[in-house]
Amino acid sequence: MKKMIIALATAGLVSFGASAFAGGNVDAGKATFGSTCVGCHGANGEGGVGPKLAGQSAKEIAEKLHEYKAGKQRGPMTSMMAPMAQGLSDQDIENIAAYIATLK
Ligand code: HEC
Repeated sequence: MKKMIIALATAGLVSFGASAFAGGNVDAGKATFGSTCVGCHGANGEGGVGPKLAGQSAKEIAEKLHEYKAGKQRGPMTSMMAPMAQGLSDQDIENIAAYIATLK
């Protein structure tokens, strides 16, 4: 019985890890980024009104977007960014994070 519980818990962790950071679709992320984010973050994530995003890992980007989405105060201009993140589904966040990780 105990072994069974451990096996189930481990399986749960593995699938969570995969869906949180490895399930992003780069093409879908690129499309959303192009229509929603480039105005403030630049065509290649080089920064503009908002900070530079290129060079950050998918994990970093996803964590930051989840913080904005949850309404957490991050930087002094959080009020500009939070509504953007709130318009994204968890899948959008994964996709965008996967795309941004490809930007140099
Ligand atoms: C209206 C301008 C604007 C738009 C549009 C916008 N952002 Fe932002 N973004 C900002 C600003 C300003 C900040 C800094 C906010 C702060 O002070 O915390 C920011 C911060 C961020 C950060 C955190 C960067 C860091 O290193 O701390 C990420 C990630 C991010 N934006 C991603 C996105 C994505 C993805 C989109 C498109 C869905 C998007 N932004 C659309 C203005 C914008």
